[in-house]
Amino acid sequence: MEKSKKMQISVIGSGYVGLVAATCLAELGHHVMCVDVDSAKIDALNAGETLIHEDCLQELLSRHRGIRLFFSTSIQAAARQSQVIFIAVGTPSAEDGSVNLSFVEAVARELAQSIDGYKVIVEKSTVPVYTSEWIQSTMTPKGRKQVEFDVVSNPEFLREGTAVTDFLYPDRIVVGVSTPRAAGMMREVYSSLIDGSYAQQASAVPKPERARMQPMYIETSPRSAELIKHSSNAFLALKISFINAVANFCEAVGADITEVSKGIGSDSRIGPEFFRAGIGYGGSCFPKDVAAFRAVTREFGFEFPLLDEIKRINEEQRARFIRKVSSALRTLKNKRLGVLGLAFKDGTDDVRESPAIKIIEQLLEEKCQIVAFDPVAMERARQILGNKITYAPDAYAAAEGADALLILTEWKEFTHLDLGHIKCLLRYPIVLDGRNIFSQAEMAQAGLTYHSIGRPSHEASHNLLKKGHIAR
Ligand code: UDX
Repeated sequence: MEKSKKMQISVIGSGYVGLVAATCLAELGHHVMCVDVDSAKIDALNAGETLIHEDCLQELLSRHRGIRLFFSTSIQAAARQSQVIFIAVGTPSAEDGSVNLSFVEAVARELAQSIDGYKVIVEKSTVPVYTSEWIQSTMTPKGRKQVEFDVVSNPEFLREGTAVTDFLYPDRIVVGVSTPRAAGMMREVYSSLIDGSYAQQASAVPKPERARMQPMYIETSPRSAELIKHSSNAFLALKISFINAVANFCEAVGADITEVSKGIGSDSRIGPEFFRAGIGYGGSCFPKDVAAFRAVTREFGFEFPLLDEIKRINEEQRARFIRKVSSALRTLKNKRLGVLGLAFKDGTDDVRESPAIKIIEQLLEEKCQIVAFDPVAMERARQILGNKITYAPDAYAAAEGADALLILTEWKEFTHLDLGHIKCLLRYPIVLDGRNIFSQAEMAQAGLTYHSIGRPSHEASHNLLKKGHIAR
């Protein structure tokens, strides 16, 4: 097996994508400088902090920090000493859903002033099609001598919570590149993943059971790579909205979405992933990327109304859930609700675009009192909700004296709760599960009245029969 070459790399941006990419590139053996303009973040990283809750990250940071992973605020110094420069800065949404590229632009301008020899500039941030060409032109204003560089699009597909293993054991690595020189350097960056040699190292982060030993390495044009990223996220969001719409119809006809999604997803052309019905998707990517994809198609005069529908179904899913709470309790005003889960999904402390937070905000407007618990996202939730809600030390404290218990994040530990004890603590034995983490049988056994998504209660089926909607 050919020994892979170690490269000098910098990663600009120390957010979820930047920090994980920098750490994992160091894990692949490269010498990495991670740069951020926020000196407080860089000081914290240099002092040994991890900043985000992410499996395996702390361990890898301790392994490489000060050895081949360094943190700095100087783009110039990092750029000069690097062969490959990843841009992983934030790309927030503008009001119309389009992407605000001002951070990318600032980095591109600074790189143009800093680089002094051939560099590969890699866009890792999620950006619309044509951004690599735009970076290219931003870095070479008219009249200025052209510095030698290539811009590559290398989208990231990592999921929060499993970001490290997603990076080290990806399904595919997509590299949008327009010159053989840059293509060769990108293959070197990922060589130990491409040939599978990383996974064979004794110190390697263990491979998740279902991950591939060697990823597909897909070389495309930069435009295609940019489009692959937006379309992939839009398609996953579409799967979730589709199954949520089917779940709603299940409720109307008395079918069970768990059975239906298993039946659909077992067709290998469709696949079982991203088919969990619930209160809709959230997070820093899906809502933003669906909107950004829509905005860029519009910019090119292309109609893509399916993207609007994905978003509409997602938003309606939260409204439906609130209606369910309201009808289970008859009225919302002055109700005390225990809430389990604040993060946008399990395994992360991220609350950006969290369906849980959005539902809580709506319930507060309806004058409910909220007592919430999340295993790791309480601090981040407090930054948004402040003292408008009460933060419980554990799940049982959230349930105590509540008129109903709401499950809003799919944390596995919630499935181990003592349901008998929950029933004793609740004022009324009502559980509304927005993530379908329990079976109806175990809830019935615990004596709890259980409402979930797309799995109608016996009461609902009975009503359908009475209304004559079901042929006998
Ligand atoms: C996503 C993509 O999966 C990843 O490839 C991309 O790089 C970034 O965006 P992430 O936002 O970390 O990753 O979370 P993901 O696991 O995809 O979940 C997104 C949201 O969808 C969560 O709110 C989750 O609860 C919800 N979800 C997911 C469902 O409601 N049902 C499902 O079946 C799967």
